[in-house]
Amino acid sequence: MNVDVLLGLQWGDEGKGKIVDVLTPNYDVISRFQGGPNAGHTLEFNNVKHVLHTIPSGIFRENKINVIGNGVVIDPNVFKAEIDKLKETGVDISKNLYISKKAHLILPTHKLLDAASEDKKGKTKIGSTLKGIGPTYKDKIGRDGLRVGDLVHNFDEKYNARIENHKILLTDFFKFDFEELLNDWEKEWFEGITVLKSFNIVDTEHLLNQALKEGKSVLAEGAQGTMLDIDFGSYPFVTSSNTICAGACTGLGIAPRKIGNVFGIFKAYCTRVGMGPFPTELNDKTGEELRAAGNEYGATTGRPRRCGWLDLVALKYAVMLNGTTELIMMKADVLDDFDTIKICVGYEINGEVVEDFPFELTDAVKPVYVDLPGWKTNLTQIKDQNEFPEELNNYINFIEDEMGIPISIASVGPNREQTIFLEKE
Ligand code: GDP
Ligand code: IMO
Ligand code: MG
Repeated sequence: MNVDVLLGLQWGDEGKGKIVDVLTPNYDVISRFQGGPNAGHTLEFNNVKHVLHTIPSGIFRENKINVIGNGVVIDPNVFKAEIDKLKETGVDISKNLYISKKAHLILPTHKLLDAASEDKKGKTKIGSTLKGIGPTYKDKIGRDGLRVGDLVHNFDEKYNARIENHKILLTDFFKFDFEELLNDWEKEWFEGITVLKSFNIVDTEHLLNQALKEGKSVLAEGAQGTMLDIDFGSYPFVTSSNTICAGACTGLGIAPRKIGNVFGIFKAYCTRVGMGPFPTELNDKTGEELRAAGNEYGATTGRPRRCGWLDLVALKYAVMLNGTTELIMMKADVLDDFDTIKICVGYEINGEVVEDFPFELTDAVKPVYVDLPGWKTNLTQIKDQNEFPEELNNYINFIEDEMGIPISIASVGPNREQTIFLEKE
């Protein structure tokens, strides 16, 4: 058996949580491979909305194994809050959630360092989620991190050594006032550690490879999106992990030859939270209309998301980097009321049109648009592809032709049921 991978092709928030939940019945194991509580993955069913940050989106389906892989960074505070919330809704995941011993821990001081670093950058800040992601991965790569597996042996000693180093950085380099915040967070953090330790903490690479050997099917759930990838995104305005398909190999311990289908998710338009270039951004009434219709506010930070038209230059780049085998188009319903829908098919840079994603997206990059007619139809109640308006079929065909791969699912609302599987003749 192979591992299928589902990941975002844009700047995050494409709707990964919803589709992982929809596809989970087809799999035995669901696993997160990178990122941490910077992620906010929303699922909706039975008129209830759930937002997950660390826990895989397969958790609401019965008899499925869910795995938090070694590539993920875990904040015990957030983890505990998530578990508490799930318990409130009657979901007990103590038996079917497995956590990698090699996943790194976000320490309370990592969050402080994130805030201090953003403050120091001032105008050039990344606009991070302030969840401590950058500093935690920095320590991981710098060989100074603490892992979940460290919890069992001399943990306090190891913890205190890290905290002392971080305090020196905060005081001497960042001149950041932190004592009060740290005291509050540390108490909660250790409560979170107690909860974390009550779960199955294992070498998840063995669990996953054994599952594959036994013929079980695995779905890997990406966080963030390709354009936020540490290597290929709009650096430095990116997150600190490999969000692309290759990240599933290193973030789970899966060999590249074991990757199967790669589902690439994109919104029928574009959004971005935080700073950094965004060629098709609309700083006008149309952008506001997209934000209102799509309810584009961050699931983790509540920040308004920047909105713009679909960017096929960036999408093609993402499809290439991930070896995407099929596309999933989300939030088509958000475009229901538009007379004309624009799609960016090239970038004009200093009078020349390019279709390859450039090294740097400066203000000189101007999107080249094709106008397509809107469908002016309420899609949210549609149950079958046969009911699609002609203009929507045109929109889908246009994207498929440009990308050279099929769109296999179109999503027409946040609910599980508002998902349409597309047949190809
Ligand atoms: P993720 O981070 O990729 O899982 O995406 P988020 O959960 O951050 O953001 C997606 C948002 O869009 C959530 O509020 C979803 O409930 C919502 N959503 C998902 N699919 C659709 C859709 O097809 N139509 C509409 N209108 N909303 C959707
Ligand atoms: P999901 O999984 C959208 C963005 C932040 C910021 C940059 C770096 O829900 O799609 P970080 O906190 O990672 O250091 O922030 O990345 N960002 C996201 N944007 N969705 C996410 O996750 C994101 N996770 C991080 O806004 O611009
Ligand atoms: Mg999100």
